[in-house]
Amino acid sequence: MSDEIKQIRNFSIISHVDHGKSTLADRFLELTKTVPEEKMKEQFLDMMDLEREKGITIKLQSCRMIWRLPNHTEIPNHKLQIPNKSQITNPKYILNLIDTPGHVDFSYEVSRSLAAVEGAILLVDALKGIQAQTLANLELAKKQNLVIIPVINKIDLAEAPARIGETKKELAKILNVSEQDILSISAKKGTNVEKVLEAIVKKIPSPEQEKEKPFRALIFDSKYDSYKGVIAYIRVVDGKISKEEKIYLMAAETEAKIKELGYFKPELSSQNVLSAGEIGYIATGIKEPGKVRVGDTITKLKVRSEKLKVVNVEPLDGYREPKPVVFVSVYPENSDEYNLLKESLSKLKLNDASLYFETERKEIFGQGFRCGFLGLLHLEITIERLRREFGLELIVFSPSVVYKIIDKNAQEILIYSSADWLDSSLIKEVKEPYVELGIITFSNYLGAVLKLLEEFQGKYIGTEYLGPNKLVLTYYIPLREIITSFYDKLMGATQGFASMNYEILGYQKSDLKKIEILLAEKKEEAFSKIVLKDKAYPEARKFLKKIKEVLPPQQFKVALQAVVDGKIIARETVRARGKDVIAPLYGGDYTRKRKLLEKQKKGKKKLKERGKIKIPSDVYLKVLS
Ligand code: GTP
Repeated sequence: MSDEIKQIRNFSIISHVDHGKSTLADRFLELTKTVPEEKMKEQFLDMMDLEREKGITIKLQSCRMIWRLPNHTEIPNHKLQIPNKSQITNPKYILNLIDTPGHVDFSYEVSRSLAAVEGAILLVDALKGIQAQTLANLELAKKQNLVIIPVINKIDLAEAPARIGETKKELAKILNVSEQDILSISAKKGTNVEKVLEAIVKKIPSPEQEKEKPFRALIFDSKYDSYKGVIAYIRVVDGKISKEEKIYLMAAETEAKIKELGYFKPELSSQNVLSAGEIGYIATGIKEPGKVRVGDTITKLKVRSEKLKVVNVEPLDGYREPKPVVFVSVYPENSDEYNLLKESLSKLKLNDASLYFETERKEIFGQGFRCGFLGLLHLEITIERLRREFGLELIVFSPSVVYKIIDKNAQEILIYSSADWLDSSLIKEVKEPYVELGIITFSNYLGAVLKLLEEFQGKYIGTEYLGPNKLVLTYYIPLREIITSFYDKLMGATQGFASMNYEILGYQKSDLKKIEILLAEKKEEAFSKIVLKDKAYPEARKFLKKIKEVLPPQQFKVALQAVVDGKIIARETVRARGKDVIAPLYGGDYTRKRKLLEKQKKGKKKLKERGKIKIPSDVYLKVLS
């Protein structure tokens, strides 16, 4: 192993949402002087505007930092020969950090990051202790055989001292370590953060790869750049590559001339060579987004008897494809923008490998896409990115799980959108996906959580205690309920002291109905949704109220109606926008005033006949939330 590789430490920070990963990363960037003081800002690695606005990490983000252990510390694997320790300058370490999101919808980002590193900091909020994503992400890290460094954060909080002991016990138990091995820090104040860097250097092994082997690198993320083409984010597994060389993408069977390669600092920093063990990027110059896939292996083309040949290597294990759980039909508001939407989705997929889409066609709307997501937040963020980054105005249908309808001919039909629901007369049976839901909370919120689960059709499976006051509840519940407002309600019922995770178990028969929404007597298919038959009436009322709240007033009064099996079951009215046509007329010319008012009335009637209701595209998103 070369000396340089010995100095590399590749690691991720994993935790439940909001336990402080990006704040800890800020302190690392400061301590290692990676980002100059004047450029530093809070949650520096959350680089997208959307991440900063929402205060959550959506994308994994990599950064290379250089750090020396303080001089008084002992260096692992180095024999100290000079008796006066203060005169020794410790060697530099290359710390490659991958910051990951904490929300369950972005767990694919976490699993890909973990495949590119040797260790992980498991960060736990002192007050909240272990939460659902702490456990889920820990499982992912264990599967990769990573070294885990347990760290308790937010010890500066006034209520923390009362909880730290218990949180330490929880962590020691699940990790099977001594409580002394757990660091306690304040990422916000910087307390003990240097000790975390020391632990990274001492406990996480350097990469094992050998430079002499043929070059192989794993693509763990990518991004589109209009000048440099697709930029592949890579972990070099074996060998090395220089910027003059040609690469070969093994699964895509595509070759390319490198435009640029380098490290993340965290912005792209061009270099001459990337070697085994390093994390960096290769700008491929490839303009077709579909050719660069996350999980693919990059190798290089070698000059052999004046011809470039693919070096004979085995591809690396890629990633498992993520399974979308919620589907939505997305159409461009302007049908001419279908190709732009297609191109935008392809480019977005480079940066979000868990996004799924395929072409579909619906009468009235023309050509669009059926898109699959890992959850509602993932859906919301993607639609917002399509609007912001690609300037698209979109019609977004109600999100749906995948239902199975058995029709009268005993045929099973998969339904991805409520718009494709069959007429009741054709349906023999409906099945919907059920999940095993795990909720972690404190015993004082138990009553509120049980009430909520009952409201959402949950069936009790079991309870397990994590500590004297902390438990995991397991329930059997329709996925349809989970993808609506369940999470927000759970947070409300527990003041944020709960977390959840779920796994799809299978399908079960359900009594479901489609609610159709009419706007000015015209069906608005994008708003239709599937609900439990017994809940159709309250759901319809709630839904109409929501539409009324977000639909801007039109030029005329608009009736909103909810219909089930051809019967109107609820109704609301959106008032007309009062345009003061007579305002410019001063004085008392009554006849002119009357004429203008009559003209306006006629205009409204014409509009009404055409049923031309303007639905701004953000209304679709607002109706979802
Ligand atoms: P996601 O990536 O969205 O999961 O969040 P995160 O884990 O990166 O958490 P982030 O760093 O964004 O911090 C979440 C909130 O906790 C922010 O308001 C931080 O200011 C706060 N926070 C983080 N660390 C500390 C700490 O040590 N003490 C206190 N008091 N607050 C902290």
